[in-house]
Amino acid sequence: MNMLTAAALVTAVPLAIHAIAAASETDTVDSNGRIRVPAGYRTAYQFLGSWAVAAEQGHGPAEFHVVYASPGAITAHRRDGRFPDGAVLVKEVFRTKAETLTTGTVSRADTLKGWFVMVKDSGNTRAGNPLWGDGWGWSWFDASDPVRATTVDYKAECQGCHVPAQATDWVYTDGYPALKP
Ligand code: HEC
Repeated sequence: MNMLTAAALVTAVPLAIHAIAAASETDTVDSNGRIRVPAGYRTAYQFLGSWAVAAEQGHGPAEFHVVYASPGAITAHRRDGRFPDGAVLVKEVFRTKAETLTTGTVSRADTLKGWFVMVKDSGNTRAGNPLWGDGWGWSWFDASDPVRATTVDYKAECQGCHVPAQATDWVYTDGYPALKP
């Protein structure tokens, strides 16, 4: 190994470790357990899957949901069958716009309504904090403010709707090809 390679390694290794840490829980949860939308998730996170919510009238979807997982979470889930502590899931909620393109009538993501964020905490280490429980931290953010959640109580605002996914750790894993063999 020449001097140049050795020097490159010395700088590259801590940088890589920092990048992983910065892209997961430490970047997303403050010391009071308040969650924020992780900065830079669109480039640092991995695509997990997407959903289209049918419009009540007419054709095509009313909303698109695009779900991302923090780096390493997909690999860990494929290996262990569960998300590791500190794993972060981000669900973007978009309004849609239908257009005539060369493929046909196509709906695409339009304006962002906001984000749902979940942070894995299998030990329920923040007992008493109403944004945490059932092995996760839970919050919703309006598109105008990715730093301050509007959620005050996950049991009232999130949990009921996730009961159908309770057997898969409250996550709708059926919709995520990346988690399947
Ligand atoms: C109206 C029912 C409903 C409510 C309320 C709700 N969710 Fe969900 N959530 C779902 C469904 C259904 C999915 C998967 C399908 C979809 O996106 O339409 C989902 C998916 C998610 C995902 C993507 C990972 C997964 O579980 O598949 C996250 C993250 C999420 N929700 C977080 C939250 C948080 C945090 C709250 C409360 C602030 C919340 N949800 C409230 C129904 C709901």
